[in-house]
Amino acid sequence: MSFVARSAIRQLTRVAAPSRSFSLLARSAAISQIPRAAVCKTAFTQTRGIKTIDFGGTKETVYERSDYPPAKLLDTFKNDTLAVLGYGPMGRGQALNLRDNKLNVILGCRKGSSWDKAVSEGWIPGKDLFEINEACDKGTVIMNLLSDAAQSKLWNEIKPYLTKGKTLYFSHGFSVIYSEDTGVVPPKDIDVILVAPKGSGTTVRNLFLEGRGINGSVAVYQDVSGKAKDRAVALGVGVGTGYLYETTFKQEVNSDLYGERGVLMGAIQGLFVAQYEVLRARGHTPSEAFNETVEEATQSLYPLIGANGMDWMYANCSTTAQRGALDWWKKFHDASKPVFEELYESVANGTETRRSLSKNSEANYRADLEAELAEIANHEMWRTGKAVRKLRPENQ
Ligand SMILES: NC(=O)c1ccc[n+]([C@@H]2O[C@H](COP(=O)([O-])OP(=O)(O)OC[C@H]3O[C@@H](n4cnc5c(N)ncnc54)[C@H](OP(=O)(O)O)[C@@H]3O)[C@@H](O)[C@H]2O)c1
Repeated sequence: MSFVARSAIRQLTRVAAPSRSFSLLARSAAISQIPRAAVCKTAFTQTRGIKTIDFGGTKETVYERSDYPPAKLLDTFKNDTLAVLGYGPMGRGQALNLRDNKLNVILGCRKGSSWDKAVSEGWIPGKDLFEINEACDKGTVIMNLLSDAAQSKLWNEIKPYLTKGKTLYFSHGFSVIYSEDTGVVPPKDIDVILVAPKGSGTTVRNLFLEGRGINGSVAVYQDVSGKAKDRAVALGVGVGTGYLYETTFKQEVNSDLYGERGVLMGAIQGLFVAQYEVLRARGHTPSEAFNETVEEATQSLYPLIGANGMDWMYANCSTTAQRGALDWWKKFHDASKPVFEELYESVANGTETRRSLSKNSEANYRADLEAELAEIANHEMWRTGKAVRKLRPENQ
């Protein structure tokens, strides 16, 4: 462990990160004691109101889980059947959380791996698990959590079920915003809403089970009922988010496509590999190059940055590390900013969407993808990573 990390950990023991504790499991347990119908009839007064939060000088509206206590949540959807289409990571996470929140949820899947997984997790064919068209028929809120490519491919099968009074829900603005490419144009007489949890569906589920909640964004594309925003926020709470910030479909899709191609995955892989390659070229061993590039980052510094911010990290490391980081961050910023500008433009003008849709529908898509993924997995850095992770005491 480097001095930076040691010093940071020492500091962390002195500066406790603030934490809000609440137990959703406890809340779920409490809900399970109350019959659903009884909860729906209960008059509730527990409303905290909308909060305006100052984010670094800009005021934004946020909604919190506590704005929708269980009785209010059940009351909001007392006449609804929530039909979740797809049981990939996002469909699974949201559907299980809705089910644990006692809402009336059914699944729509094609027969195959998603269907089998749903059955293995307690969904019953004919009761709360159906083929996609049947779920669309029964649902009043159609929660389209199929893959983005399948949302486009199956649109003409789903559309006839989107009758007046129903609600169409997404977790990504992709299909609607890039409708010229996807063909997804919702009927004008239904509400169209979005809740986009900021992470994978697996995290949506795991944090809910831990009594925590992923953050997410909420948006309304069409409000026919006059209640679209209210129902979108309520659904966000139902699927397990902890708090929601406001966005639009367009801002959501652009920031999401940009972020995952940038610092979340694309840029970080590029930076990791570049740093590792220079270390190796300068005679460092694979274990040293990996530890100085990935292991220390993910195991020590990133959790501290997540808990306290980079400003705290800079203020709580050795003076040697501090001097170097202060001197070099602007060079990395200046070198990478033109690439980020190019990336945002490629997202905003639809190039990224078109590429994603066309690549995903090529006949040899699976084989080409395997080859690209193998290139990453077979890189010495990630092969070294496998060996390093095995050495962690908790993995032995
Ligand atoms: N906001 C965010 O940060 C965020 C994060 C993750 C995901 N999302 C969004 O959530 C949605 C779902 O994503 P995901 O991560 O769960 O995984 P995914 O891999 O995108 O979706 C998988 C689901 O789609 C089904 N599917 C694929 N092709 C199909 C077809 N031709 N016919 C019928 N079903 C088909 C799969 O069924 P089979 O198992 O049968 O193939 C599976 O149930 C997407 O819109 C995605 O963009 C948003």
